[in-house]
Amino acid sequence: MAKRIAIAGATGAVGTLVRQMLEDRNFPYETITFLASKRSAGSTIEFKGETHTIKLLEPDAFNDIDIVIGSTPDDVAAMFVPWAVERGCIVVDESGYHRMLDHVPLVVPEVNADAIADHKGIIASPNCSTTQMVVAMKPIHDAAKIKRVIVSTYQATSGAGVKGQQDLTDGSRAFLEEKEHDYQAFSHPIAFNVIPQIGSHKADGYTSEELKMVYETRKIFGDDSIQVCPTCVRVPVSNCHSETILLETERPVSPEEARKLFEDAEGITVVDDLDGGIYPMPNNSDDLDDVFVGRIRKDISCENGLTFWCVSDNLRKGAATNAVQIAELLVSDKYSACGTSN
Ligand SMILES: NC(=O)c1ccc[n+]([C@@H]2O[C@H](COP(=O)([O-])OP(=O)(O)OC[C@H]3O[C@@H](n4cnc5c(N)ncnc54)[C@H](OP(=O)(O)O)[C@@H]3O)[C@@H](O)[C@H]2O)c1
Repeated sequence: MAKRIAIAGATGAVGTLVRQMLEDRNFPYETITFLASKRSAGSTIEFKGETHTIKLLEPDAFNDIDIVIGSTPDDVAAMFVPWAVERGCIVVDESGYHRMLDHVPLVVPEVNADAIADHKGIIASPNCSTTQMVVAMKPIHDAAKIKRVIVSTYQATSGAGVKGQQDLTDGSRAFLEEKEHDYQAFSHPIAFNVIPQIGSHKADGYTSEELKMVYETRKIFGDDSIQVCPTCVRVPVSNCHSETILLETERPVSPEEARKLFEDAEGITVVDDLDGGIYPMPNNSDDLDDVFVGRIRKDISCENGLTFWCVSDNLRKGAATNAVQIAELLVSDKYSACGTSN
């Protein structure tokens, strides 16, 4: 198929990394187009040594485009994705807007790559906190069927985009200088603080971010019986989300078996030596594509319980890497004929 590519939201935290990854991974393309709001349209960016002018995200921007990687807020995705699909594009959407629609595959290539074959013009990439968790769950689920997950997240400020990153830097500086900072992305100061709310209150005391972890996990595994109890927390870390994950399985999985399953799995690196003080942290997982696991141990409160610590770069595997992997599958021989765009 022709590979005329567009990046919608090319100037954002995720879009900037998508551009870098397409360049680094030598993604095959005939033409490439960068789209953003009127705030950025007309300014220029460099890609593969050439200067490109950012175009306005508008309906006719999708004429003569085959694949769109969308990294915009939900309301913008709701508006532009139909424009693109009507014009015959396949959209890989990183926003939350389309993820739970029945006709939209929600894909993490290490877990359910084959789901992309069913696309009708839109393929969604999950929420960053879900993506790293399902990659880590996959080998354990295949071996021993996961019944229940308890997860607590420690989410970086880059998960709230460019404004979130600025809030951490500028808010920390202001705090140290005993000045006020007007937070843009967070409803409480994030400097020298943790905030036990990400997203809005949805139901029964759970936030939108937490319910995404419940429903997206079930959709990706195609298994509505998996019970997930999440608590999502924002921490003053610039990049990389961390998670404590407890899994209850149908049969016991020893830490030794789990370590072997993790080591053999695609996209996972084990970093686990407690005596040596070696485990994944945001500062040794940053700017890498894998999901890192450590502190692998039995959940001593539950017979069939396993617990571990999991860190991944939310802008990479949690967003840009996952979307670019999906786009790579779309142009691969296996999937290039799949799906209908209209
Ligand atoms: N950050 C993460 O870790 C992460 C992980 C997974 C998924 N996501 C999802 O990815 C999407 C992008 O997140 P982000 O963190 O990159 O956000 P961001 O840094 O705020 O970037 C948003 C992008 O969307 C563009 N945009 C905003 N309003 C627009 C409009 N009205 N018309 C056209 N373009 C518009 C912006 O263009 P301008 O620069 O011109 O304003 C910018 O390029 C969100 O849906 C987010 O939920 C983010």
